[in-house]
Amino acid sequence: MQNFNFYSPTYFVFGKDRELETGSYVKRFCEKKENIKVLLHYGGGSVVRSGLLDRVKESLQKENIKTVELGGVKPNPRSGLVYEGIKLCKEEQVDFVLAIGGGSTIDSAKGIAAGALYDGDVWDFYSGKWVEEALPVGTILTIAAAGSEGSPDSVVTLEDGMLKRAAHGEVLRPKFSIMNPALTQTLPAYQTACGATDIMAHIFERYFTNTKDVEITDRMCEAVLLTMIKEVPKVMADPNHYEARANIMWAGMVAHNDICGVGREQDWGSHSIEHELSSLYDCAHGAGLAVIFPAWMKYVVDHDVMRFAKLAVRVFGCQMDYDDPKATALMGIERLQQFWKSIGMPSNFKELGAKEEDIPKLVENLFTKNDPVGAFVPIHEKEAEEIYRLAL
Ligand code: NZQ
Ligand code: ZN
Repeated sequence: MQNFNFYSPTYFVFGKDRELETGSYVKRFCEKKENIKVLLHYGGGSVVRSGLLDRVKESLQKENIKTVELGGVKPNPRSGLVYEGIKLCKEEQVDFVLAIGGGSTIDSAKGIAAGALYDGDVWDFYSGKWVEEALPVGTILTIAAAGSEGSPDSVVTLEDGMLKRAAHGEVLRPKFSIMNPALTQTLPAYQTACGATDIMAHIFERYFTNTKDVEITDRMCEAVLLTMIKEVPKVMADPNHYEARANIMWAGMVAHNDICGVGREQDWGSHSIEHELSSLYDCAHGAGLAVIFPAWMKYVVDHDVMRFAKLAVRVFGCQMDYDDPKATALMGIERLQQFWKSIGMPSNFKELGAKEEDIPKLVENLFTKNDPVGAFVPIHEKEAEEIYRLAL
């Protein structure tokens, strides 16, 4: 196991109706105790329609907390709204940024929080500069997916060139995250499935490692995957299944606050490869991952057949073929793809709406920042092109 530091200071507030306590948590985690002003940041309207925004406002009013609002975050959040939010925070002297929504809203809020205390261009942070200072961020999560409610990351798309990039910094971990699984019951089935796919992908990015003897995190990763395989079909069959929603929501946090990834080299190649799809086609990140991950797995399986076979046996219930471990490994990949298909995820470019003729552009965009991407097997241009082709 590698040496590591792990500090995940987000305060999680989990369960039914917990959003009614929002005001008290803003007060608790805001440095100022009087005359607090909060930016309420949200997406395209689901939180308005569900009445969540009104409930949150009421809770803030009870604590005499003032608010300014900025809605309209799109999935795959854009830089334009981040710049708008930064301007608003500076003009209004906002003390705290509250994201109400999914990963896109939370990531946009984190970008705003970082930019509000920075004199330069916020895009510097999405071009490699570490975020050292930011306004405090709190979240009220409405979809189990990206894990941004516990992560130190923000992913935003620069409209000029449609480049989707990540910013990082420990200060971006939310001060608190309110997680009421019942809020996810209004999700369309497709969004639920995209979120589930992303959660599983966050585990795979950590599971495929070159670090030896990491049994504890291997087992934790496997536990999250087994949970997803058991619980997701329940919510596909019954969107109001609270207990399954609760398990999935917590799995989404555990999959990405890095407790399952400490002490081991992580990959993240498939996420980079996918981000080019969701920025070019504006598709859901989870759907893009369902197409890319099996292709990446097939491309790199020979690098460590036994690790893939272990996943196949422990998670996908395959019988180990000791004469042909690769057959077991490939069966595991096949079962993963079948699982994603069974919950309505696409499995190739065509089903995603991606085009073969765009592959050169996807590859070109992919390497504008890092070369190679991924660590389990470093992926350069030639390999990336082959992975996109395997996903056709
Ligand atoms: O905008 P509204 O109207 O709220 O609708 C959203 C949106 O259309 C809808 N939705 C969310 N909660 C709902 C709901 N509809 C009905 N009922 C609810 N309870 O769902 C749609 C998708 O929302 P979005 O926030 O985009 O989903 P997700 O959480 O999957 O976030 C995806 C973004 O996160 C990034 C992805 O790249 C993508 O841009 N990621 C962020 C990470 C991080 N910060 O750590 C890591 C991830 O790997 C990922 O890259
Ligand atoms: Zn992801």
